[in-house]
Amino acid sequence: ARKVIIDTDPGQDDAVALLLALASPDDVNVLGITCVAGNVPLPLTHKNARIICEVAGRTDVPVFAGRAAPLSRPLVTAEEVHGKTGLDGPELFEPTLPLQDQDGVAFIIDTLRREPAGTVTLCPLGPLSNIAAAFQAAPDIMERVQEVVLMGGAYFEVGNVTPAAEFNIYVDPEAADIVLKSGIQITMMPLDVTHKALTTRPRIEALRALGNRAGSFTAEMLDFFERFDMEKYGSDGGPLHDPCVIAYLIQPELFSGRQVNVEIETQSELTLGMTVADWWGVTTRPPNALFIGDLDAEGFFTLITDRLARL
Ligand code: BDR
Ligand code: CA
Repeated sequence: ARKVIIDTDPGQDDAVALLLALASPDDVNVLGITCVAGNVPLPLTHKNARIICEVAGRTDVPVFAGRAAPLSRPLVTAEEVHGKTGLDGPELFEPTLPLQDQDGVAFIIDTLRREPAGTVTLCPLGPLSNIAAAFQAAPDIMERVQEVVLMGGAYFEVGNVTPAAEFNIYVDPEAADIVLKSGIQITMMPLDVTHKALTTRPRIEALRALGNRAGSFTAEMLDFFERFDMEKYGSDGGPLHDPCVIAYLIQPELFSGRQVNVEIETQSELTLGMTVADWWGVTTRPPNALFIGDLDAEGFFTLITDRLARL
């Protein structure tokens, strides 16, 4: 199984990504879950991550709290999408799984130094504040990372938080810039692909019909989550952004993309956080990321449903 650290700000779609990973121990070995401020403030994201571990029956996985704010900007949150708790929809409970004492950024650094070089993949599902803070504090870890597979950015689909920017990159563009310039192999799941991973009614009902706790909990999260995009954009369902990262680790053949140069706008007020992807190779800037553009949506939802059935 591939060793990963999942860095996350749950978020209903983060939660489904966590459930998919936690249900797939033969493919994905989750060394730890590091939480970051994003969709909601940090105290809620680490509580939500612990709730999800309990729903998955995986209280063996350590959960850490990382940064409560972006590197150099005030936090922007997304309660209008995810609700006040970040996980609106199902009945939530106080988790008994304790939060680890160690700081999340320190855990990322220690893990990369401890594990053999090139064997740990980082999976950021929120703003890149924890990952960039770890790279800044311990530059030696960068060459030890196997790959970064992240959800963030947009190309043809442009923005969801401003006309130009996707939420995860917009919230901490300086952090995203550090990660994109790290020289590490990066795979990005932008809105272009995640907006093709829509939670239609039959797909949500298939999860509810699993008859286990993970299935009904997920269906209730997605009942809430899908309404935002359906009302705002008139789409057929909610885009299941973050699970694309985990599905890619398990079944990369579901996805296709292009190796391109991606730069992050960190200055302009108008286009702050924009991912400028050189899709057509009009510059000589060397490729630094595999930018995913398409997925097999049926295969993706089949994978999620089959795996959650195991919980
Ligand atoms: C990203 O922003 C968050 O709201 C989601 O969890 C996802 O990570 C999509 O833009
Ligand atoms: Ca997220």
